[in-house]
Amino acid sequence: MFNCSAFNNRLSTAWLGHHLHYFEELESTNTYAKQQEGGELAHGSVILTDTQTKGRGQYQRQWQTTPGQNLTFSLIFTPAKADRLPLLTLGCALAITELMDLAGDDSWASIKWPNDVLVDNKKMAGILTETQFSGDKLNKVIVGIGLNVNQRDFWDALSNKATSLFQLTQKEQSREEILAELLQRIEYYYRLWVKQDEGLPKAVNCRMLNYGEWVKLTVGGKELTGRFKFLGINAAGVLVALDEHMDVQKFAYEQVRVNL
Ligand code: BTN
Repeated sequence: MFNCSAFNNRLSTAWLGHHLHYFEELESTNTYAKQQEGGELAHGSVILTDTQTKGRGQYQRQWQTTPGQNLTFSLIFTPAKADRLPLLTLGCALAITELMDLAGDDSWASIKWPNDVLVDNKKMAGILTETQFSGDKLNKVIVGIGLNVNQRDFWDALSNKATSLFQLTQKEQSREEILAELLQRIEYYYRLWVKQDEGLPKAVNCRMLNYGEWVKLTVGGKELTGRFKFLGINAAGVLVALDEHMDVQKFAYEQVRVNL
């Protein structure tokens, strides 16, 4: 079971994670967050559970993890506008990659467009960012993060595709310490995101898999003709690429898949 007081003792953020809503079991932390009325979850709240019964991933996929082994949580943000959200998601992914470096392993953690963290080409974490509006008014942004921490093995279909901090380090990790450390990094990148600091997209792109490579792009399920030089994300939160005529092309985030 997650130890909330150990987490609180370890937490050194200015605001992120100061309201921790912990549940032994939830359908999904993102779904729970969405179900709460406008002001019920303060900016910087964290919804965390040990077991998700209907965890959700990108593209309507399921997100399944072994109960009590990993970190499954949602962060609540209440920015003024719902623009540049892909960059916020990727800022959180960047924070996770840095945490992987701290684990002391030689492996290089990278960000796979649009929202995965890979280590040794295997998925370590996934992020699902959602919004909740009342009419035109943005109530909250929900950044749901699934991070594989102490999971020993993955079921057949995932065994070659997923990894965990335990698999990397062969050591049982403290989920409380990891979450506290991660929130500190996310808080830092959130500040850059709010300030529209150019350093954020740059730092994200430095960690982006296939950055600067010629790739195939699939937009809205259709593969585009020709190859594109993948230039990552820009300050506006859109994917930038050069086409074969060296013209700059920009793509809205969610619809684009990047393939070699
Ligand atoms: C993906 O890789 O497709 C995104 C996975 C996101 C999973 C997290 S776990 C916590 C939060 N609650 C959910 O139901 N999903 C996100």
